[in-house]
Amino acid sequence: MAVTIETRLAEAVRIAEEAGRIIVKAREEKSFNQRLKAGIELVTDADVAVDTFISKELDKHFPGELQLSEELSPEQGLGTKAPLWVVDPIDGTVNFAQGLRHVAISIAWLEEGVGKVGVVHAPFLNETFTACEGGGAFCNGKPIKPSGASELSATLVGTGFPYDRAARKALMPRLESILTHCQDIRRNGAAALDICDIACGRLDAYVETVSPWDFAAGWVIAREAGATLGRLVDVPEGVSKDLYPKELLITAPGVFDELHALLSSKA
Ligand code: IPD
Ligand code: CA
Ligand code: CA
Repeated sequence: MAVTIETRLAEAVRIAEEAGRIIVKAREEKSFNQRLKAGIELVTDADVAVDTFISKELDKHFPGELQLSEELSPEQGLGTKAPLWVVDPIDGTVNFAQGLRHVAISIAWLEEGVGKVGVVHAPFLNETFTACEGGGAFCNGKPIKPSGASELSATLVGTGFPYDRAARKALMPRLESILTHCQDIRRNGAAALDICDIACGRLDAYVETVSPWDFAAGWVIAREAGATLGRLVDVPEGVSKDLYPKELLITAPGVFDELHALLSSKA
């Protein structure tokens, strides 16, 4: 019998919450080493341990389904039409290592390249964001929706910056225009939570280039909550828009067009 989407959501929530307990314990016990990946990007033992835990759980419950995950299989399943799990075991690794609380586990499930299930669990904030296709979006079981922001001067914008410092310079014109026209900027350090914060109206807009595992689950949650999802660039032919991570722009519906016009000239 085919596995229902509700079963997938429930399993993903259970796995994310269990992973959250591993993350909290690792931090309490300070039982993780840190190193730099590719010379610039922080990774801890906990990132790898949690990715391994989630991967084994998904294998057990959904045998044979592909998994794309940041630490274990970052290339797996890109471009596939087959069922695909997309996992960021710790989104906000720098926050995790520094003792900050914006940290999340992000799990999405896609079929035919379309995001069907999204779970983002924040173990230090005790919040779990969930959504499945056509079913609305929730935080700790309560329905959520984006803000009613309708003008740029009242638009609080979440964003992030690449680990590669040399790549940050190109973002300066964009930052200048956001700071000139919008209310302000937040850089909270976990893309999945930034996107969920659009979904529940705490932030009004989010713009960033990330990786597929950073946004796949948040994208489903924001979409189901009623946020407007788009990009400052076109998605290449044949690539799933639910996995293409470049120049994402996710906003409350009332400010998308204006912000898109403002930032497109700075992309
Ligand atoms: C990072 C966070 C951050 C974003 C970076 C991501 P990580 O993920 O989501 O907010 O600005 O682009 O790489 O490395 O902590 O999983
Ligand atoms: Ca991440
Ligand atoms: Ca990560």
